[in-house]
Amino acid sequence: MTTVADEVQARERQYLLQTYRRQPVTFVRGEGVRLFDADGRDYLDLLSGIGVCSLGYGHPRLTGAIAEQAQTLLHTSNLFYHPLQGQLAERLTSLSGLSRAWFCNSGTEANEACLKFARRYWFTRGEKRTRIVALEESFHGRTIGALSMTSDAHYREPFEPLLADVTWVSNSDPAALLAAVTPDTAIVIVEPIQGEGGVRPLTAAFAAAVNEAAQRTGALVIADEVQSGSGRTGAPFYSATIGLRPHLMALGKALGGGVPVGAALIGDEVARTIAYGDHGTTYGGNLLACRAALTVLDELVAGGVLAHVGRMAIHIEGRLRALAATHRFITEVRGAGVMWGLELDRDAAAIVPLGLERRVIVNRTADTVIRLLPPFVITEAEFDEAVGRLDAALTAMGAQG
Ligand SMILES: Cc1ncc(COP(=O)(O)O)c(C=O)c1O
Repeated sequence: MTTVADEVQARERQYLLQTYRRQPVTFVRGEGVRLFDADGRDYLDLLSGIGVCSLGYGHPRLTGAIAEQAQTLLHTSNLFYHPLQGQLAERLTSLSGLSRAWFCNSGTEANEACLKFARRYWFTRGEKRTRIVALEESFHGRTIGALSMTSDAHYREPFEPLLADVTWVSNSDPAALLAAVTPDTAIVIVEPIQGEGGVRPLTAAFAAAVNEAAQRTGALVIADEVQSGSGRTGAPFYSATIGLRPHLMALGKALGGGVPVGAALIGDEVARTIAYGDHGTTYGGNLLACRAALTVLDELVAGGVLAHVGRMAIHIEGRLRALAATHRFITEVRGAGVMWGLELDRDAAAIVPLGLERRVIVNRTADTVIRLLPPFVITEAEFDEAVGRLDAALTAMGAQG
């Protein structure tokens, strides 16, 4: 008998450009932290659409706001004013301490925007600086500029030549960073917690080295907070937690709660060098996107979700350390808030299907890391239930050797 899932998968295999190696599961509905497949099975989701669905699925305030906005006005373009873009910019600038916002639709576009604004800054100052310092194990996106600053050669090589002049520095060596940033460095770009690279938080000492290098040379610092920002660590942005002082910040993922929203936040000294027409987008910052992001921010701040993430971090860390004590092939537990990685002494790929069999969704990244990015609203009881399933999947993985 052909099932709905069979049909969906067969159609994709025939008509879709095959750039994604999907897991053999077809989700059709979500509720809270649970996803339901086409056969009605429910899964506990510790991934939230790769860090996107911050308020979980079917959140009544978010879905209500989106529905109401869809009925009122979806999109007008950036040729005209609408009431929401300024409100969202005001909220994000006050949360970040940067002075202006520019909206787009994804994380990679936010990084491209930061890159262009930084280039424009150096052009305006009449200095031909183009050198970029980026970190080993970084990931900034798949478009040409963002890809140029992404460290994994496997992603980059088929698309070379990319932007020239990128220097890679270890993410745990402040002295190497200080040595690499010179008076011809235009940009230093860092993820405050590297996500795709294996959930690696930068230390306060590393952030201090970035600040010092920038101050000494004038280089601009871009904080790529696409994965670590918008509340995922219990703070609005992890930069502040480690004392990093960026001139530009890239946002995406959790900000829209599932509606595509990206943003570049820009400090005053860069913002003053940007002129009309320097950058643009048709969709960026439309009413639907802004309404979704405003609702997410309302929930984070006034709705107490940020504080909830802070409390959950302690609970999650305790549970994960207990897992590591049980399964000796877990060699390290890293993370903050609701962003965690379990480093294994082996390839972590097997955990994904073993988890799905037990109806828990987790992700493998950087080959040997199990990554957890649950919805911000997950409760202790839900997390414990999910960890019970993950524990069983880890036992099965251990048994495979
Ligand atoms: C830190 C970081 N920057 C940029 C991106 C790219 O974002 P998007 O996939 O929305 O283009 C990602 C995506 O995983 C990311 O984790």
